[in-house]
Amino acid sequence: MSEHEELLAELRALRGYVTELEESGMELIPLDIAEPPPEMAESVVVPIAAESEPVYAPAPVTEPEGLDSIRLEMGECHRCQLGDGRTNLVFGVGNPRARVVFVGEAPGHDEDLQGEPFVGEAGQILNRVITRMGLDRQEVYICNVIKCRPPGNRNPQPTEIEQCQPFLLRQLRAIAPEAIVALGTFAAQTLLNTKEPISKLRGSFHDYCGIPLMPTFHPSYLLHNRKNTDLFWLVWDDMVQVLKKLGLPVPDVQRKGR
Ligand code: URA
Repeated sequence: MSEHEELLAELRALRGYVTELEESGMELIPLDIAEPPPEMAESVVVPIAAESEPVYAPAPVTEPEGLDSIRLEMGECHRCQLGDGRTNLVFGVGNPRARVVFVGEAPGHDEDLQGEPFVGEAGQILNRVITRMGLDRQEVYICNVIKCRPPGNRNPQPTEIEQCQPFLLRQLRAIAPEAIVALGTFAAQTLLNTKEPISKLRGSFHDYCGIPLMPTFHPSYLLHNRKNTDLFWLVWDDMVQVLKKLGLPVPDVQRKGR
């Protein structure tokens, strides 16, 4: 019997069972007394009469929180002083169902103006890394620990981190990626709650709320040390681990001079 035929037979059996119950005067089948025939063992039958209210309403299913509602709740955020000096709050960009999320530190000048993370020079480097991985910017998600630009690109202060980090955590929970890439010292140390240097943290996965997190060098660090190609290859080694974690093919990249 084909799968389709089996399904039809099951439906016929179910219809017969329901008709029998209707004929015996039953209008509703409470879930705990419903005894479907063995071939329907996994089925759940609730109302028979269309106009009847079910006796046992199913437990409400709580929808996971979406990125839009998190953004809405942030609103024109002034939870910390960074709200006063920013042009745009930079929430994040990309696929809300991304398999991998890249997390940087905080918006810089260009990001503040455009309201999008990693659109300046560091962003060009990040785009190159993503492309080399065989991915594109639209299929991953990119955001920062801090959503507003600190004046003069100074380091974010503890109270700013404290106010902003819960939103990042909620973003990551909403996306539920299979891997996170923490870009640079600040993102890695903040997310992992450690003071270990990035040089020690990178190269292996760490746990962030049950999600594997790979720290790697920040694209700005690669930019400022562009002559040191070894740094780029270290980042590449980290990204190879991420691709393997996702079960994605690892593009063959030639290492000149190695
Ligand atoms: N650096 C970051 O950490 N984030 C950005 O969005 C841009 C530069």
